[in-house]
Amino acid sequence: MTYTDTRPTLDEVEHIAREAGQLLMTRFGQKHNIHFKGEVDLVTEADYLSEKYILDYLLKHYPSHQVITEESGSNQAESDHAWIIDPLDGTVNFAHGIPIFCVSIAYVYQGVVQLGVIFDPARSECFSGELGKGAWLNGSPIQVSGSRELIKSLLVTGFPYEKDEMLQRNLAYYGHFSTYSRGVRRLGSAAIDICYVACGRFDGYWEVVVNPWDVAAGSLIAAEAGAQVSSVEGEPLILEMGGTILVANPGLHSVLLGVLHQNE
Ligand code: IPD
Ligand code: CA
Ligand code: CA
Repeated sequence: MTYTDTRPTLDEVEHIAREAGQLLMTRFGQKHNIHFKGEVDLVTEADYLSEKYILDYLLKHYPSHQVITEESGSNQAESDHAWIIDPLDGTVNFAHGIPIFCVSIAYVYQGVVQLGVIFDPARSECFSGELGKGAWLNGSPIQVSGSRELIKSLLVTGFPYEKDEMLQRNLAYYGHFSTYSRGVRRLGSAAIDICYVACGRFDGYWEVVVNPWDVAAGSLIAAEAGAQVSSVEGEPLILEMGGTILVANPGLHSVLLGVLHQNE
């Protein structure tokens, strides 16, 4: 049986993410087969293993849906239904044996993210969100922090792989926020960064170069947990290649925007 025109349930997306995450754990800590996509940007056999599992599942159950993954790109299907997938977010951590990585899966209908699941297999933490229904961590509701003062806020960011002007731009932002906040962390997984804002561990996250698979699921989970999600310019988030993102609790979002644009 196929479910061509049916929508997946959140339970089903969770199931896919958990299975892919368990596959990652079978490779974690082993010697990796590493290929370089750029000077720093790398991919391991585990990225492909996770991605293959997810693609096979979707091809079997939802053959007509459009599927966009980091390593394979788009299957070019024309459909109202789409999936945006990062089979391993935090690849550099993974390759170095650092247990901060996850699987990120978003289900999109007519251009709007409906379901998002981010599974961190090293901690068995499954973050999920459903449009209009809420956000959860391992089934319990989550919400953003209430912190409104920057000096009492803990932030997180990520840096682009390319050693270009966007890296310099973010280093400047990093300097400003390190000065004005309680601290700025760099975990190395955009999807986990966003989930940690969603559940109140961090108060805000920004990044200046992200791709749709880095943020599609997380942006829904965070919004459903009460976060304000935008671009670094303060515009509505667009899921595009090389986009920017700012996620924070509603009391802090405008404060962060003010710092990001303080020199303009
Ligand atoms: C990267 C990580 C990193 C972020 C980069 C992403 P990858 O994804 O999420 O934290 O700073 O922007 O590209 O390559 O590990 O899937
Ligand atoms: Ca990623
Ligand atoms: Ca990835």
